[in-house]
Amino acid sequence: MTVERPDHSQVMLSAIQPTNRITLGNYLGAIRNWVKLQAQYQCYFFAVDLHAITVRQDPKQLLEDTYTAIATYLASGINPDECVLFVQSHVAAHSQLAWVLNCFSYMGELNRMTQYKDKSSKSGKNIPVGLFTYPALMAADILLYDTNLVPVGADQKQHIELTRDIALRMNSVYGDDTFVTPEPFIAPSGARVMDLQNPTKKMSKSAENEKGSLFLMDSPKQMQKKIKSSVTDSGSEVTYDDNKPGVKNLIDLQVALTGRTASEVVADYQGKMYGHLKADTADIIVSELEPLQKKVLQYLDDRGELQRILTKGAGAAAEKAAETLKRVYDRIGFVGL
Ligand code: TYM
Repeated sequence: MTVERPDHSQVMLSAIQPTNRITLGNYLGAIRNWVKLQAQYQCYFFAVDLHAITVRQDPKQLLEDTYTAIATYLASGINPDECVLFVQSHVAAHSQLAWVLNCFSYMGELNRMTQYKDKSSKSGKNIPVGLFTYPALMAADILLYDTNLVPVGADQKQHIELTRDIALRMNSVYGDDTFVTPEPFIAPSGARVMDLQNPTKKMSKSAENEKGSLFLMDSPKQMQKKIKSSVTDSGSEVTYDDNKPGVKNLIDLQVALTGRTASEVVADYQGKMYGHLKADTADIIVSELEPLQKKVLQYLDDRGELQRILTKGAGAAAEKAAETLKRVYDRIGFVGL
């Protein structure tokens, strides 16, 4: 029997903003797929603290949230011996390439970004410039590592398309092999987990109503309560239907966590009320997250080990990033040393 061995010639990369608490959406839309795919690729996973400061952060909280993000990656099963695991601000090339890409991004295209529109509408009169140029930094994150695949939730697709546009634009000026053009990977389930209180909006770390978001470190009781009080509708029949976004979201959560199809899940609830669907969904979520929480806390308890992993990751990431940055600088016509 031949065993297929990956050659690791393809690169997979992804990241999460260490702002507030990581949600079930971040886990299902991103981290879980990183874990599933990691063995097939050369992987880079990191916490984007430079992106986080596009909105005001409390310094102590940002520090804790960054460690927690890394601990969550590890607890979910990311292997630090196989993958490069790091913090964005440890690799200066991210900021350096971001400047270059800023000069090749257009106001019009940045203005069209949904995440910018959402976040700037909450910023009042003084919208930080970083919020506007955020996608150029994200493009730098991706392009520095000659990335082929970027596993993300559906909301990040637009940023990856923009990354491709910027890469192709620069390739047409400086040569086709300046940048590798990345593809998004959006999983068939879990790519758009909706807010429990407002199921037509995506679940978010910074939702106004905390009851709408399930955080990975919520206690089992909090999770049960949030699912129980999730908004459904005035009906009672469990069907998978766009007109029942709250019920659909709960079914989607079961699909993402169990691997069953939506119709299989629906079949379980014939003649049963929404309460049954809610109770089972909560149980499935708790049984997935409880063991994960224990591991996150264990990793957080050993800061020395986290620091060791991050130091190693920063070294490996910086090495690769410096090569790409040099290639770009040379092509642009910057004097080398
Ligand atoms: P962030 O921190 O908002 O989200 C992290 C990841 O979680 C996914 N996600 C969701 N998936 C399903 N349902 C949801 N409700 C949900 N909410 C969030 C996101 O799609 C993402 O995959 N700009 C990025 C971070 C970033 C990045 C990068 C990602 C910076 N540089 C380079 C990939 C590659 C962001 O704000 O993600």
